[in-house]
Amino acid sequence: MPNTTRISISIEEDIIERFDALAEASGFPTRSEAIKHLIKSAFVQEEWKTGEVVAGVITVVYDHHKPSVLQKITEIQHDNGKIVVCSQHVHIDHHNCLENIIVQGTVGSVQKFHKALSAVKGMKHSTLSMTTTGKNIG
Ligand code: NI
Repeated sequence: MPNTTRISISIEEDIIERFDALAEASGFPTRSEAIKHLIKSAFVQEEWKTGEVVAGVITVVYDHHKPSVLQKITEIQHDNGKIVVCSQHVHIDHHNCLENIIVQGTVGSVQKFHKALSAVKGMKHSTLSMTTTGKNIG
């Protein structure tokens, strides 16, 4: 475990009271853990701004009966084989499929891949969960 240091900050009372209530409601055991979570989230946001290698999960929902949707999604994944780590397909019901695609690559390549999937005709919904490889977070 890395060395820890104790810090002291000045903050308005009403803000920290509200933060403590939010941290407790979110299940953080201590204020320190809640603040550490926020700091790490800022680090991840910075990674996505600076174009480093990042990790993420793209979730797509589509009707596999729609003409060529499945074929197009498969083609796009093959074209981006270097950043697709793996994918998971769930048949939600008779029509709807959900796929989680785990990606790792440069910010630009991941965002381009996500845009290509989002633009497929017949796509119902597409999200990109931006996370980190964990290498620079500590
Ligand atoms: Ni399916």
